[in-house]
Amino acid sequence: MSLFRWGSEHEIYLPEIDAEHRGLFLAGEELHRALAAGATPDRIKEGLHSLLQLTEAHFLHEERLMRASGFEAYEWHRRQHDTLRKRAREIDGGDNLSVTAALDYLAGWLRDHTSVADRIMAAHIRNWGRRKAA
Ligand SMILES: [Fe+2]
Ligand SMILES: [Fe+2]
Repeated sequence: MSLFRWGSEHEIYLPEIDAEHRGLFLAGEELHRALAAGATPDRIKEGLHSLLQLTEAHFLHEERLMRASGFEAYEWHRRQHDTLRKRAREIDGGDNLSVTAALDYLAGWLRDHTSVADRIMAAHIRNWGRRKAA
């Protein structure tokens, strides 16, 4: 059963950000499958490393957009990213149970965060884009 399943309900209608979210879901699912298939420790570590790299690049992208657009809830939003960053630092990449638990956490976190915080941010960024274009 897939843990990270991308669906249109995850769209926040900012194409670049939606593409990054889709990439995170894909990387998460790939790692989830690798664990289920009994992949080697090196493959697990590699998959985890690239998932965390994608996540950090994505967070930095959103944080840049929020600052550039003067988003009033920036701190609140960034604190949510920081919670995930902190959780990510606790993962032991050499321990499959630790990676599995972290993936469960990430899947839930992504679902909740994209559907609330990222949506609020997206509405602000779209308005900012329209004001800039006007
Ligand atoms: Fe976010
Ligand atoms: Fe996001």
